[in-house]
Amino acid sequence: MEPRQIIEKLGQLAERYEAELGQASDEQAIRAGQAAYLGNKGEVTALQKLMKDIEPKARKDVGRALNQTKERISKATDKALGEINQRRGREYLDRHVDLTLPGRPPVGVGAMHPLSIVMYDIVDVFVSMGFDVATGPEIETDYYNFAALNFPQDHPARDMQDTLFIKEGETLLRTHTSPVQIRTMLRRPLPIQIVAPGAVYRRDDDPTHSPMFFQIEGLLVDEGVSFADLKGVLEAFIHEVFGKDVKLRFRPSFFPFTEPSAEVDIQCIACKGEGCRLCSQTGWLEVLGSGMVDPNVLQEVGVDSERYTGFAFGIGVDRIAMLRYEGISSIKLFYENDPRFLSSFRR
Ligand code: DAH
Repeated sequence: MEPRQIIEKLGQLAERYEAELGQASDEQAIRAGQAAYLGNKGEVTALQKLMKDIEPKARKDVGRALNQTKERISKATDKALGEINQRRGREYLDRHVDLTLPGRPPVGVGAMHPLSIVMYDIVDVFVSMGFDVATGPEIETDYYNFAALNFPQDHPARDMQDTLFIKEGETLLRTHTSPVQIRTMLRRPLPIQIVAPGAVYRRDDDPTHSPMFFQIEGLLVDEGVSFADLKGVLEAFIHEVFGKDVKLRFRPSFFPFTEPSAEVDIQCIACKGEGCRLCSQTGWLEVLGSGMVDPNVLQEVGVDSERYTGFAFGIGVDRIAMLRYEGISSIKLFYENDPRFLSSFRR
């Protein structure tokens, strides 16, 4: 065959192959077709075998035509295979996937627990006033939970706390976050300004008491700290959480680790002080305990109580949460973890 004829034939083969591909319905047919052209006994291969007899001058042109033809055939094959794959995918979807079905609601999307929301919000308020966050263990020793906090041995004040002991007189589940005061003063240099959020435990179980609940402890120790500073900080906190118009009052109280001590009440947010069921007709709701750190406590941790003074406070997180989300009838709801209850809170 003349080189010109070979080149022409190659062009025809490529065209015919492309036309035949249109008829092939599956991968097997396509592969077989490709072999009929490019395989050992294929038609293109047969022409390639003629190369050795072609005069050197024309060899380059025939060679180029050969390569082009092979490339056209490969490309057409790939394209046809791709289309078959796509068709298969569509058929699969048609058979197995009903696009008209309504979507499933997302599963496993969580929300923050209402107590966590309130806890973070309260901590944020104090952080904005320059407080650091500190923590301590939930399993405590008698020393940190009581002795160092000026609870005398065998003093009725310890009964106030309904302690859950692990080993009587030695280890226990902390009854309040106040031991973090001790741990912090032993560890950090003065001045100290911290809040310590966390779980606490008491032998107590009724609609208004859960054996585990949450507190946020506060402690500020520096030179020249006065009760006025305590009032200022707590007032700012209450106004931030309950609004600027909420009235509050400091009521004298007693805690072994503060002197003087005061409990803080806010005007009842349900009846605005008129007297209702929520406030037991008093018009006031107790939200926290506080006071000036007792000099005995400062001395216990080696702080010079002549030079330094401090204030402390303990906030009941559950109480604040129940007030913030009005209509929560029992503190127990926070601990039952019913998703219907939990999902009704948004930050
Ligand atoms: N620890 C006390 C309690 O659980 C609350 C408390 C009162 C904390 C006065 C304080 C404080 O820091 O100054 O009942």
